[in-house]
Amino acid sequence: LSKDEKIKHGDIILLFYDERRNWIIRVEEEKEFHTHLGIVNLGSIVGKEWGSIVESSLRKKFYVFRPSIGDLIVKIPRRTNIIYPKDAGFILLSAGIGPGSRVAEAGSGSGALASILAYYVRPTGHVYSYEVREDFIKLAKRNVKRLGLLDYVTFKNKDIKEGIDEGDLDAVILDLTTPWDYVKVAYDALSAHGMFVSFSPTIDQVIKTYDALLKNGFRFMRCVESFLRDIIVRPGKTRPSSRMIGHTGYILLARKVSKDEGTK
Ligand SMILES: C[S@@+](CC[C@H](N)C(=O)[O-])C[C@H]1O[C@@H](n2cnc3c(N)ncnc32)[C@H](O)[C@@H]1O
Repeated sequence: LSKDEKIKHGDIILLFYDERRNWIIRVEEEKEFHTHLGIVNLGSIVGKEWGSIVESSLRKKFYVFRPSIGDLIVKIPRRTNIIYPKDAGFILLSAGIGPGSRVAEAGSGSGALASILAYYVRPTGHVYSYEVREDFIKLAKRNVKRLGLLDYVTFKNKDIKEGIDEGDLDAVILDLTTPWDYVKVAYDALSAHGMFVSFSPTIDQVIKTYDALLKNGFRFMRCVESFLRDIIVRPGKTRPSSRMIGHTGYILLARKVSKDEGTK
């Protein structure tokens, strides 16, 4: 996530041949990167400008780009489903998450959402990421660290049914199987203006969570599903791509209201 003009040893790059063949790798001076398109000497990239071309041993040309947080997330090593950029972008805007926000999320999973949140709450905000499984915490931590964002995330190996340790939070985001069980926990941890967000693959989960929200001090629920369709732009034959991701999950948002109002 370097902001320098020139590529340094240790930078994470997007090595780009074409839309299908591109990789996220770390530049290490004495290392080579092997692909079926030849070997790329990573040391030869150091000192080049972003957007430069590097040639492999088979004289194939690769671009060296600075990856965006979106590029990094779609290629994050994962062992769980992750939140994709199309959903994360909407969540960030709707929950008003930005520099300085304090956010709790559960579970950490592969650390994709934790990385996105950390990236946007910098430099003064913080993410508290809860996860029951120790192996997933390890993976999520490794992924967040690789992106240089570990200072902005505190991982907790804890079931959120035991509560969220922090208070006065700007948002609580639940990406787990039974969000309805933790609506009260979220209410207690949120500030007066806090936003609740859950992400669920099925409508059945949304309906149960909606009911729990209604009974536990939340109002103005909004459920959305986002679709993203690529457009293939070619002179004289521009059209939508025939492939797209059909379904990821439903996003359910809710506003916290004061205790007296919420129980009327
Ligand atoms: C779909 S994954 C989350 C993926 C994550 N949002 C990401 O983008 O990488 C769901 C995770 O929630 C965890 N989980 C389920 N119930 C939990 C609970 N009560 N407290 C904490 N974590 C929980 C699971 O172990 C799993 O790792």
